[in-house]
Amino acid sequence: SVFDNPKTASLNVAQRIANLIREKQEKKQKAVLGLATGATPIAVYAELVRLHKEENLSFNNVITFNLDEYYPMQPDAAQSYVTFMKEHLFDHIDIPKENINIPDGTLSLEAIPAFCLDYERKIGEHGGLDIQILGIGRTGHIGFNEPGSAPNSGTRLVTLDDLTRRDAARDFGGKSFVPAKAITMGIGTIFKAREIILMAWNQKKASIIKKAVEGEISSEVPATYLQLSDHVEFILDKDAASLL
Ligand code: GLP
Repeated sequence: SVFDNPKTASLNVAQRIANLIREKQEKKQKAVLGLATGATPIAVYAELVRLHKEENLSFNNVITFNLDEYYPMQPDAAQSYVTFMKEHLFDHIDIPKENINIPDGTLSLEAIPAFCLDYERKIGEHGGLDIQILGIGRTGHIGFNEPGSAPNSGTRLVTLDDLTRRDAARDFGGKSFVPAKAITMGIGTIFKAREIILMAWNQKKASIIKKAVEGEISSEVPATYLQLSDHVEFILDKDAASLL
């Protein structure tokens, strides 16, 4: 769907998440959310915080799994996705701490494979992701699944693309300070979600959105794999949709 502006699009996504949470509450079940970072979902999180504060939306029954984290990364660093999620969502809602899952950027290299398997196992244990929200990087990455990622990939350690590190340079005060690696859910992990919502705003995403939606399916642009799923929705503003 194409919306007039990022704000109306974000309100729509937040409303759908809120509806899911409320439906699950009525059934006394947990809502399992796959969450994303970056500038794109910020207004979605702001609306969820507003719904919590002003419209009684509780996150008591919500379990979250974040897509990714830089590696190495200390959780209390300003650029960590842990810090991002606290600032934009977790510090402002009533989600139990133990319900929050974010890949751990402090592990030793040897400990990463077991951690990743455990991340997948935990998602499964909770019955899988009800909704996964996604942004898109200019390399066509979803999560940090850079070009070359396999469609059945699981949670794992990956090397970041040069373009991704350049785009992140602003947050880190220079590209050389951007970690070379990240731990990310795989394309396969994302695919298992019952509903996938990819959001993109602004002109600078228009060309990658054109490739993702209309381009040949290929690991060169990992987001093209989403064309193979029947439970994906692209939520765009007019600018991001302008080349379609
Ligand atoms: C980072 C994140 C992605 C995100 C992308 C786009 O690379 N790991 O999950 O989609 O940035 O970021 P933005 O929303 O700021 O354009």
